[in-house]
Amino acid sequence: MQPRIAPSLLSADFARLAEAAAAVPGSDWLHVDVMDNHFVPNLTIGLPVVQALRKSTDLPLDCHLMIDDPDRWAPPYAEEAGAHNVTVHAEAAADPVMIARDLRAAGALAGLAIKPGTPLEPYLELLRSYDTLLVMTVEPGFGGQEFIADVLPKVREARRRVESGHLTLAIEVDGGINAETILAAAEAGADVFVAGSAVYHADDPDRAVGELRELARKAS
Ligand code: DX5
Ligand code: ZN
Repeated sequence: MQPRIAPSLLSADFARLAEAAAAVPGSDWLHVDVMDNHFVPNLTIGLPVVQALRKSTDLPLDCHLMIDDPDRWAPPYAEEAGAHNVTVHAEAAADPVMIARDLRAAGALAGLAIKPGTPLEPYLELLRSYDTLLVMTVEPGFGGQEFIADVLPKVREARRRVESGHLTLAIEVDGGINAETILAAAEAGADVFVAGSAVYHADDPDRAVGELRELARKAS
């Protein structure tokens, strides 16, 4: 299992997104947090900015949509912004299987996210339609929060299902990932690690990416 690191632009300078992308050439995915001030109490960027970003970097874009009505708004991130992976929240999706179908038809990977308080069980069956499971390790909405280790049993359960051949998924963790917490997340079975402040508040963001990947590799 090759751990992948996805720096979150939420902790970068929003007036210099192209430079922020260029600062982490060694990363695997670039994580883009889209918030609508309805699903979460914060507002960030939307489709036009992601389209502009697509033209400014070759890194695969990992779009995390913390928005209401993803059934309507998610497919354009694949169709019109060329996102590599588009993740919608299970709590917000009306027809998650249809969303996954639309995203895959547009050539993207389909991701399903669950908040810390959302159980995994009800979604195990429909996760067969997905490529990525994003287990939130903080409440969505803001960067720089503390990692919630209590959600790791969900990561473990998802990893068990992947190992037994029930599901084929990348298992992504998002929130509070740093050089201390990445070990527990990797041991539990995560293989994609989103890191905002741990990367962009570091003196050398690209070196931070390399160090996080090395720690995850040792733990997994
Ligand atoms: C929170 C976002 C995260 C956030 C992580 O809602 O989904 O992607 O940027 O930031 P850190 O790594 O600082 O917790
Ligand atoms: Zn995110």
